Amino acid sequence: MRIRRYFKCLCCVLVLFMFWTLISYLISFKDEDFPEDVAYDIFVDETKDEHVHVPLDQEIHEELQNLRHKNAMTDLKDPKVPIILWWTEFTKDPGTERFCGNNKCFFTNNRQYSKHKNLKTFLFYGTDFRGDDLPLPRTEDHIWALLHEESPKNNFLLCHDEVLSLFNYTSTFRQESDFPITTQYLVSLEWLQQMTYYKTVSQKNKYQKEEKLAPVIYVQSDCDTPSDRDEFVKLLMKYISVDSYGACINNRQLPTQINQPLSGMSHKDYFELISHYKFALAMENAVCPDYITEKLWRPLMVGTVPIVFGSSRAQDFLPSNNSAIILENFKSAEHLGAYLGNLNAQDDKYEVYRTWKSNGISNDNLRNVMRTRTWGPTSDSHWTPGYKNFIEEYECYLCQKIYEMDLLKSQGSKPPPKTANLSHYGCPKPLKFDSMGRYNKEGGWQNFWSGQWMQKNKEGVTLKSCVSKGKNYCGSEKKVGNVKKDF
Ligand SMILES: *[C@@H]1O[C@H](CO)[C@@H](O)[C@H](O)[C@H]1NC(C)=O
Ligand SMILES: *[C@@H]1O[C@H](CO)[C@@H](O)[C@H](O)[C@H]1NC(C)=O
Ligand SMILES: *[C@@H]1O[C@H](CO)[C@@H](O)[C@H](O)[C@H]1NC(C)=O
Repeated sequence: MRIRRYFKCLCCVLVLFMFWTLISYLISFKDEDFPEDVAYDIFVDETKDEHVHVPLDQEIHEELQNLRHKNAMTDLKDPKVPIILWWTEFTKDPGTERFCGNNKCFFTNNRQYSKHKNLKTFLFYGTDFRGDDLPLPRTEDHIWALLHEESPKNNFLLCHDEVLSLFNYTSTFRQESDFPITTQYLVSLEWLQQMTYYKTVSQKNKYQKEEKLAPVIYVQSDCDTPSDRDEFVKLLMKYISVDSYGACINNRQLPTQINQPLSGMSHKDYFELISHYKFALAMENAVCPDYITEKLWRPLMVGTVPIVFGSSRAQDFLPSNNSAIILENFKSAEHLGAYLGNLNAQDDKYEVYRTWKSNGISNDNLRNVMRTRTWGPTSDSHWTPGYKNFIEEYECYLCQKIYEMDLLKSQGSKPPPKTANLSHYGCPKPLKFDSMGRYNKEGGWQNFWSGQWMQKNKEGVTLKSCVSKGKNYCGSEKKVGNVKKDF
């Protein structure tokens, strides 16, 4: 272990001092520091598919946690209000009381509070949820709540009913979740409709001719994903040309006026680049209902027509019925290629997909969701003053639920049990594209992603039965190579 080695060295005193300083610094974070601290930035490099959570190196993470708890033990508060504990450390808040409406809760990441009599809710961040590290045994009144806005790729355990039904409340991108955050990467409707980067179709035609641009742009550096998107793009390239700037299927370098590696580009340059194209492949790294990221919103914002793949019901969130091309509506990559070729050659037909930019957003669902959204994106330049971030808002949602439940109990009624189910996340088993470009081919155990999904299904079954017996599951986490083995 990293830290132990330091203890052996002569300068351990110095190292300890430095650690102490770091811990005190981390502990000193207050509410106001929160948005920055969770590294939530919707404008990060989309090509890398890293959106929100950058986990610390596991060893350092554990050591920090131990040290912090040792330190915090001497300074524990004794909250008189309900306690909501991030079991998977996430916000780094050591412990703060906060009002949610008229109700007050105590929010903390310090596991010392798990034994406190006011402990009501354990909160888990999906990507860090592990079957061998759970607050067990679970008592009847312990609420478990999940926050998981990331791709299923990060933790296939949560694709399964056995695991989801351990939770009482969820906040995920799925519309069925208790606190849905499907639009987490959409700044605002005004942002979406802006004309800042908009190019006329004749400008786009000119770029194709003079700069030898393809009709379609693709920019990804996360290759070999559960959605198998690169395989589709390779097929599509047989029927229409695609400029691919990222590491995956790279066939074009950045224009000289930009002349920087992609991650060094400013968002402005990047938006400008997409705006020169007629179509942008907006394919998520995994397939799941309502899994929508900035890959969809960005082309729409700059006036480029997205070719959508990821959420089977993207239509629910598109600005209008004619604002994107749904990949799965085509019988094959060849059909899609031919369709794009036609649109590329007929300006009036192409423009139909952009009329929403001038006519406005006709999708009532999208308008309602954005109107009633109490949180805003927490990115630097697009931070909307007066809006909270969805993490704080979800914490407050859970706080309110505690008070609602206590009120019912005080009135002598027993609230019916509330549990999550498959529809709260439940992403389907990853498939592969067949030779025609249809996403319907079984990968089986040989394929890494579908193998992972099936493995986590088995683990989920075991986990559920272990939790009901009050035991942490310590199963085949270390036997991933041997996925066929039953346990
Ligand atoms: C699953 O959860 C959804 C949303 O909370 C709910 O509407 C549905 O009835 C639940 N399904 C089952 C089978 O319990
Ligand atoms: C969009 O299409 C859906 C389903 O095809 C339809 O129900 C809806 O009325 C359409 N909306 C508009 C604004 O045309
Ligand atoms: C929370 O979920 C668990 C597991 O599904 C369930 O046993 C328990 O009754 C639920 N608690 C409440 C208060 O609904």
